[in-house]
Amino acid sequence: MNSDDKLIRIDMGSLQSNAETSADTVLCLGIESSCDETSAAIVDSNRNVLSHIIYSQIPEHQKYGGVVPELAARAHILAIDTVVKQTLDAAGKSINDIDIVAATAGPGLIGGVLVGWMAATGIAQSLQKPLIAVNHLEGHALVPRLSATAADGNGEGGSVEFPYLLMLASGGHCQILLVHNVGKYELIGQTLDDSAGEAFDKVSKMLGLGYPGGPIVDKRARIGNPERFHFPRPLCDKPGCDFSFSGIKTAARIMLDKNTEEVNDEFINDFCASFQAAVVDCIINRLTHAMDTDIVRNTKPKTLVVAGGVAKNSAIRAAMETCATKHGMIFAAPPMNLCTDNGAMIAWAGIENWRIGNIVKEPVAPRPRWPLNEL
Ligand code: KG4
Ligand code: ZN
Repeated sequence: MNSDDKLIRIDMGSLQSNAETSADTVLCLGIESSCDETSAAIVDSNRNVLSHIIYSQIPEHQKYGGVVPELAARAHILAIDTVVKQTLDAAGKSINDIDIVAATAGPGLIGGVLVGWMAATGIAQSLQKPLIAVNHLEGHALVPRLSATAADGNGEGGSVEFPYLLMLASGGHCQILLVHNVGKYELIGQTLDDSAGEAFDKVSKMLGLGYPGGPIVDKRARIGNPERFHFPRPLCDKPGCDFSFSGIKTAARIMLDKNTEEVNDEFINDFCASFQAAVVDCIINRLTHAMDTDIVRNTKPKTLVVAGGVAKNSAIRAAMETCATKHGMIFAAPPMNLCTDNGAMIAWAGIENWRIGNIVKEPVAPRPRWPLNEL
């Protein structure tokens, strides 16, 4: 690979959840390439992550303020062989040690998805091993069963049991789901316009803070005053469990256009804190409504879970933990490095699907759109 200046290699290391391995332990190679990360991981059926590597394209897209699909697809092609080889080396395994191959088959930027999917198909066919077509959202949804921690990210590491109530918030999606089992998702609420991650990214861009916006706004918000600017809380006075974030984003635009004050660090920190407080209030309001629906009451999920890139947000994690406790539920979230896109979540979803026999039997066409409740 000759693109080191454009890609950042991150060795995510290993995660030892369960020291025991037995003769029936299986190893899954998982590949993720649906957006701007080329990632691979080797995970075993005892919830151990043997190795996990991500090639992030952030430097490639930063100057455009967002992901450029064509550039992303090309960067995946440059990284895919290297990332798979390095992941095998880091685990001390050869390709013949792999029992299952899993890759994201959608939803996502189709050029990137095709790169990872074709690589996985080639590997599985040459090894004559089961191939699993993983729904990227299912990767996010199931990763708390590989490893979950408390709100501060420092928990013991455990596994979430079905059924659970899931807040899935990423750059492309924002949904409340009841997770009944592998492949069984019930949609309780969803955004009518932007996702939460998109709102973070757009507000960051307006403030000239860079991409991806979520982590930057989160960091600024920690030292800002959340009461200085008044952002709307769309739909919060309405029944139901759906979200709308475009109003918050438009309010940010209007406030900045009308602003006559100096835009210094304090202004930016307070703006980020006020914006983030509005997003947190919307999430908690909608989750509270969700807990009150007949379907959730009857299903009685014990755990409230947050997943997806936005699950890294410190204020969202803390507010959701308080909300869970108030409703007699346990709160769980993946460790920070398993929230944003990664190969380990795809390998784990591969193992969970393999256990129920959901393996590829005929050619699969990757899908740019693939809602979870269509699984
Ligand atoms: O799940 P993900 O890696 O990619 C998609 O599947 O979309 O999520 C990326 C999103 C981006 O919008 C990013 O700004 C957001 O997650 N994000 C955060 C934080 N870290 C990443 N949003 C809020 N606070 C964070 N700390
Ligand atoms: Zn994602």
